Amino acid sequence: MTGRPRTPIAVLVSGSGSNLQSILDAAAGADYPAEVVVVISDRPGVKALQRAAAAGVPGVVVAWGDYPDRDAFTVAVCDAAVAHHAEALILAGFMRILAPAALDRFPQRIVNIHPALLPSFPGAHGVAEAIAHGVKLSGVSVHFVDAEVDHGPIILQESVPVRPDDTEETLHARIQQVEHRVYPEVVAAFAAGRLRVAGRHVHWEGP
Ligand code: GRF
Repeated sequence: MTGRPRTPIAVLVSGSGSNLQSILDAAAGADYPAEVVVVISDRPGVKALQRAAAAGVPGVVVAWGDYPDRDAFTVAVCDAAVAHHAEALILAGFMRILAPAALDRFPQRIVNIHPALLPSFPGAHGVAEAIAHGVKLSGVSVHFVDAEVDHGPIILQESVPVRPDDTEETLHARIQQVEHRVYPEVVAAFAAGRLRVAGRHVHWEGP
């Protein structure tokens, strides 16, 4: 250990959690600047919660259906994160939209990963829509969350070529290979305080 304090983060999930796994694996390294203190899922029984348990990280279910509206759900998610002393929300396949109150609780401290080159193809079907549109390049976007869906300042993008015979599954699989490499890097840079936001522009500072 370097002795440097690690930034406590909550990872928000809804399903498989392969991106969560890449962050957990990176965080197992002694010098990684973030610690996953809680995994929050909007659905019970998902594989991501098994991954959290296997890593010895608390898993919390904040079930969408248990709350009357988005505001109440958002408060519960933020409360669960704060209860575990998380200082940032890392969205990793989290399929719910948080209410603006989350931005007040975690200002410029919510990060999302999206499987397309934003601002093209935001939303839940970015991979399929990229193929349907006939683009030759898609990829990965990691961005700060703002009040609009898949819209906030872009931290990192990496392109992935679309092959003529690609299906949603084959393209998503190659996109995820990139995601698993870049998301832990972005989370590390964020946790180490290396990302400076100026309007829509994110500057990477330091080595
Ligand atoms: C990822 O492709 C991510 O970009 C998108 O949802 C997928 C989640 O996959 N938002 P996983 O749960 O991390 O395996």
